[in-house]
Amino acid sequence: MRHLLTLEHLDRATITRLLDRAERFRNEGAPRDLLAGRTVLTLFFEHSTRTRTSFVLAAKRLGADNVNFDLSHSSTSKGESLLDTLHTLEAMHLDALVVRHNENGMPQYLADHANTGVAIVNAGDGTHAHPTQGLLDALTIRQRRPDFGNLRVTICGDIRHSRVARSDAQALHALGARDIRLCAPRAMLPDALDDFPGCTASEDFDAAIENADVVVMLRIQKERMADAQLPDASDYHARYGLDARRLALAAEDCQVLHPGPINRGVEIAPEVADGPQSRILDQVANGVAVRMAVLAELLTTPA
Ligand code: NCD
Repeated sequence: MRHLLTLEHLDRATITRLLDRAERFRNEGAPRDLLAGRTVLTLFFEHSTRTRTSFVLAAKRLGADNVNFDLSHSSTSKGESLLDTLHTLEAMHLDALVVRHNENGMPQYLADHANTGVAIVNAGDGTHAHPTQGLLDALTIRQRRPDFGNLRVTICGDIRHSRVARSDAQALHALGARDIRLCAPRAMLPDALDDFPGCTASEDFDAAIENADVVVMLRIQKERMADAQLPDASDYHARYGLDARRLALAAEDCQVLHPGPINRGVEIAPEVADGPQSRILDQVANGVAVRMAVLAELLTTPA
């Protein structure tokens, strides 16, 4: 693996290897010097709390030098092209570039133009992919439910604009999940299910959550919508919010995931977000471990 751009073509064995490594890092700690002398640069053109911080921590915990590229003070704000920025940074000898961008395909574009020896890691591009989120969600689910063969997963929210939904579906499908139910109001469903292997789509949340072993809730991606498309928050909550009544329709031990940031009282009620079935903070902890595993995979030769 040279870059991590999407989970689309990753097979079960590769995903399992990454998750196993992340699990080992979580349970046994990681070799502090594994990436000593390597440089990991984080370049985020969109806001982020969890993803950016966890990449920074992941790099540091493996002993890499980390540089957080401050876009607001960089020459990109003076009109420098992204390729010129890439080549400038490469001249400083970086090993990995972790990039988040609002345009679909931008990490792929950088990978196509990067010098050999620089690994590009997609930390979320537009509505296209968020591979490390897909991996960390799969790891979180696997910790409680190792067998994906008869797993029932409901993903509810703004699927249309969600790179998380795409990467989750691809990871879960590759690991054997065959009952993945996408649920959203029509305007937030994708036009086609080509990016969503093994998924079905519906608009009825009560039906879609029935007997689910996992429910992944998603935020409405306001930044990718015109104001006129935005639903009223309380109407939305009534039809698509996850509260205790709805969660009772799912399997008894149903795990509740959300990639964050959560909008309390919109897609998820506080009683569920903070309740005993919530795995939201486990996802955050797993996020650091998964990003360590990804950096280790890309920047070291196989052990
Ligand atoms: C997600 C993202 O940025 O795609 N958040 C994250 O990475 N934890 C989802 C979102 O912004 O709603």
